[in-house]
Amino acid sequence: MGKMIIAGNWKMNKDLDEAVQLVEKLKKGFKNKNKVEVVICPSFTNLSSVNEIVKDSDIKLGAQNMYTEEKGAYTGEISASMLKSVGCKYVIIGHSERRQYFNESNQFLNNKVKVAIENNLTPIYCVGETLEQREAGKVEKVIKEQVSEGLKDISADDLKKIVIAYEPVWAIGTGKTATPQQANDVHVYIRKLLVSMTSEAVAEQISILYGGSVTPETSNELMGKSDIDGALVGGASLKADSFADIINY
Ligand code: 13P
Repeated sequence: MGKMIIAGNWKMNKDLDEAVQLVEKLKKGFKNKNKVEVVICPSFTNLSSVNEIVKDSDIKLGAQNMYTEEKGAYTGEISASMLKSVGCKYVIIGHSERRQYFNESNQFLNNKVKVAIENNLTPIYCVGETLEQREAGKVEKVIKEQVSEGLKDISADDLKKIVIAYEPVWAIGTGKTATPQQANDVHVYIRKLLVSMTSEAVAEQISILYGGSVTPETSNELMGKSDIDGALVGGASLKADSFADIINY
């Protein structure tokens, strides 16, 4: 396994001035460059300006979503090549908020993952169960569907290029982090699914991030677990101090 990947998903937060200020601070505060690959994912409107600040640094840029088509009459949508043209290296695909509020299905997300890879963007493909599904004992069933359908018909060579984020829906924005053991158990299960889709050698190379109420207080222990290869951070990535503490762990 290479570097840990720690990504900040700013969601629908920060206007242009706020985004610029935050990223200037992070650029100064990021020390752990040998151990961690940092990715920040601002909203579309801030990508270009944030790129000007991070392009010569060790901080990588990511988008929060994209559309599957290359161009044309799709009012309001953004293509992979547009993201590339403003410096994006990563794109979050299938965040639970996209699944929940915009009805994005595993099949649609499978298309997005393929288009991202074709365009040399690293997809951060998100999976995770709701509280109801966890309480009904369906964690493995849900994760299996999301992984096998969302990553269907992708070659082993291409699967190596993706990052997976396990984000239990009940832990997002709620302050309820999964315990490191709970998270790691699901990561181990995801890795097992990846072994069955590819091989042990390939599955080992795929980074699996944990997301859901990660804070400077919880990140160390999470990151110490065998199958947790980084974090996808929401709320705590919106403040320079707390995100700096997490990336410099
Ligand atoms: P929080 O860290 O705010 O719980 O958000 C997690 C998340 O959804 C990151 O994509």
